Amino acid sequence: MNNNIALECRGITKTFGHVVANKNVNLSVKRGEILSILGENGSGKTTLMNMISGIYFPDQGSIFVNGTEVSIRSPKDAFNLKIGMIHQHFKLVDVFDATENIVLGLSGKKFNIKKAKKEIQETCDKYGFEIDLSKKIYDMSVSEKQTVEIVKVLYRGADILILDEPTAVLTPQEIQKLFAVLRRMRDDGKAIIIITHKLHEVLELSDRVSVLRKGEYIGTVNTAESTEQSLTEMMVGEKISLDIDRPEPHDTKDRLVVKGLDCFNADGVKVLDDISFVAKSGEILGIAGIAGSGQRELLEAIAGLQKLSGGEIVYNDPKTEKAENLRNKTPIEIKNLGVRLSFVPEDRLGMGLVGNMGIADNMMLRSYKRGKSMFLERKEPKKLANKIIDDLKVVTPDANTPVRRLSGGNVQKVLVGREIAASPTVLMAAYPVRGLDINSSYTIYNLLTEQKEKGVAVIFVGEDLDVLLDLCDRILVLSDGRVTGIVDGRTAKKEEIGLLMTKSKEGK
Ligand SMILES: Nc1ncnc2c1ncn2[C@@H]1O[C@H](COP(=O)(O)OP(=O)(O)O)[C@@H](O)[C@H]1O
Ligand SMILES: [Mg+2]
Repeated sequence: MNNNIALECRGITKTFGHVVANKNVNLSVKRGEILSILGENGSGKTTLMNMISGIYFPDQGSIFVNGTEVSIRSPKDAFNLKIGMIHQHFKLVDVFDATENIVLGLSGKKFNIKKAKKEIQETCDKYGFEIDLSKKIYDMSVSEKQTVEIVKVLYRGADILILDEPTAVLTPQEIQKLFAVLRRMRDDGKAIIIITHKLHEVLELSDRVSVLRKGEYIGTVNTAESTEQSLTEMMVGEKISLDIDRPEPHDTKDRLVVKGLDCFNADGVKVLDDISFVAKSGEILGIAGIAGSGQRELLEAIAGLQKLSGGEIVYNDPKTEKAENLRNKTPIEIKNLGVRLSFVPEDRLGMGLVGNMGIADNMMLRSYKRGKSMFLERKEPKKLANKIIDDLKVVTPDANTPVRRLSGGNVQKVLVGREIAASPTVLMAAYPVRGLDINSSYTIYNLLTEQKEKGVAVIFVGEDLDVLLDLCDRILVLSDGRVTGIVDGRTAKKEEIGLLMTKSKEGK
């Protein structure tokens, strides 16, 4: 073995139920090297890193640190091996300042806070971190919080650093600062693994790139010998035909006309930037993009759940034939016009369903909001629940079984089914097949196609390009909150969409 290798993974496999998150993955990173891990959403990057940092344990395979096989069973084990991970979601205590967070848990008898402060400051100076160590976390920007996380693992002696999509939350200037720090760490002999979806960042920063696709290890290449094109090809692979039914759209009408939408998030970052497109009745419009490119904000904007700083959303009401600007309407008014949103978040039960209640009561939750009396509606939800159970083949003992006892696929059918049952004119479904097995996924695709055939304008946010290319009539691609392209689902090439997804603001 090359004795310059800091960390190596061999044949790592990890499954979650029927999902194979990592399949026989190999990886190695040297001291004094920045290795990028590249892969689409759900390709298994975070899972792999979580095994290196002791959050999950592999089903199969081995991990070597400095040439010795190790067993990493907890974050503490990883820490003892000088492995430090900076997660996508920070793990800081809000009411503490930077120093307090950095030393958290270290305070023993011999612990000297004065000495620690001095050493932390030295770490900052050495790598060029600009941070006020006495600032409280709740007063910090995302970038400052990230800096605290990095300083924390460095101060605690990490030699192998893993950063999971650190640039996703940063501005271009902050990214450049982070990269400068990472280069200094590399020059200091640290082994650095950075996960990013952005090809230009990979090309700019890393020495080598390892690519994962749908849990499989595709290969590792030298960055100097790679291009955006070659990396995209590795990342997306050949188009796989899935044989999803896709009838030709007919009698399409402009149902939603979105013009120049602008939206800022709570941190003042522009999350929607001049978004314009048309969603037509009788058509499935796909939305592709790396996670966090503005998909969520866009759908929420249409549903009236986002504060917009510019643009308009014109809804052509098929009943009244009137054009309505949804921007002036409340979420309830928008819903009542027939614009329905079904969003499947990572935590399925977090959104729109109450886990302890049965399907019938969850139906009522929705109808109750329509302003009718709960009492009068009791029969209707039960009927509706049973119809959804029958139509969508939801596996449940009965309509009153608490939803949390159902499998993920069945919960998702209930979520989508409830929106469909409201006879929408616009149906927005975000990640409706997340974590589902093949059969349940096809049930959902067919449901969406059925709605399209009924003349509904369907908007489908998906993660799998093969699915988007087989299911959708047109595909809108988002990158960094902007529309980088709208392509024909029947003729577009996978690499073309891959490139649009990673098109950066700088590369405009
Ligand atoms: N704790 C978990 N339980 C069930 N499925 C999971 C879990 N963590 C990840 N997965 C699944 O494993 C696959 C890989 O996920 P992940 O490693 O997060 O991908 P990436 O970081 O590349 O986006 C996905 O299909 C995801 O849904
Ligand atoms: Mg991830």
